[in-house]
Amino acid sequence: MSENNLPRHIAIIMDGNGRWAKSHGLTRIRGHIRGVESVREITTACAEKHLEQLTLYAFSKDNWSRPKYEVAILMRLLRRYLVRERPTIVDNNIRFTVIGQIEGLPKNIQKEISVNIEESKSNTGMILCLALNYGGRAEIVDAARRIAADVAEGRVSVGDIDEDVFKHHLYTADMSDPDLLIRTGGDMRVSNFLLWEISYSELWVTPVCWPDFRKENLEEAIKDYGKRERRYGGLIE
Ligand code: FPP
Repeated sequence: MSENNLPRHIAIIMDGNGRWAKSHGLTRIRGHIRGVESVREITTACAEKHLEQLTLYAFSKDNWSRPKYEVAILMRLLRRYLVRERPTIVDNNIRFTVIGQIEGLPKNIQKEISVNIEESKSNTGMILCLALNYGGRAEIVDAARRIAADVAEGRVSVGDIDEDVFKHHLYTADMSDPDLLIRTGGDMRVSNFLLWEISYSELWVTPVCWPDFRKENLEEAIKDYGKRERRYGGLIE
């Protein structure tokens, strides 16, 4: 496969932690714990491949509706991940960032996020973006609000609002759109993830649950992507 066929930006819906745990006779929490190991392995593999960006759907706005206990454990795992992975992120020249309504997360998580962003801000390698308290529709509504405020304050005129202006008011304003969207766990849906940004992304769904998703599975997805013909609604000569 030529370098040109490598995706620059991969986004992943990490699903199936609960089902993986159930199939092994374990609690859902065990599935999330092993899911963090997959996050670690896939992040390192993507950085080694010199991907421009990896975006992971780590906690959606809808995840708050899970039992209190599970939400509390997910927050604890997230905090521990942010602290423990800090040296690996920095040593691998990875720039850490987040998208989502970060102000809605617990204060201790917000603090660790800020430290990771600050300590990795001069890194020049892959961008690792965690989607946290994220919803695709909320992102679009937030963008509309910001544009409305710009119009109200005279910074933008209504006639100037186009796709480019809109894009620059999204959480992902300074990021490229994902080339490849991977979903683990086998469900064929996008679950309110990056609704604007995945308009032209190639989709790859695997029945493999996230806790079992390893480098070989990533390779398979990238290989499949390499065979795709991206037409963006046009024709290939
Ligand atoms: C879906 O599995 C997974 C999530 C709720 C988000 C992913 C979370 C992790 C990988 C662990 C924490 C992440 C970080 C970055 C520390 P599910 O519970 O919906 O699985 P199911 O569909 O089988 O029930």
